Amino acid sequence: MVKVTYIAADGTETTVEGKTGDSVMHTAVSNDVDGIVGECGGAMMCATCHCYVDEAWTDKTGERQSEEDDMLEGAASEVKANSRLSCQIKLTPDLDGLVVHMPEDQF
Ligand code: FES
Repeated sequence: MVKVTYIAADGTETTVEGKTGDSVMHTAVSNDVDGIVGECGGAMMCATCHCYVDEAWTDKTGERQSEEDDMLEGAASEVKANSRLSCQIKLTPDLDGLVVHMPEDQF
């Protein structure tokens, strides 16, 4: 199992355990974490899974793909350098302890 901590815009932290291979979005949705919606089910069609990867983890989660970039630029607000679609971050043992922050307007 891989632990992921989700930090809401108001500072509320929720730590859950996900399975290797599952996405950060799926892990949030299946554990009822507020702030990650995942409306399209991970098909890169909605950007309601927008998150900010904590600065300490950006090297491990890697770069966003160009399709991800396009969707974020077109549909998400307040895109930052560490913005990702959480449906595109798959859990690996290396990501155990991952911390992501949720945008303010994603409820
Ligand atoms: S769940 Fe729709 S883009 Fe990630």
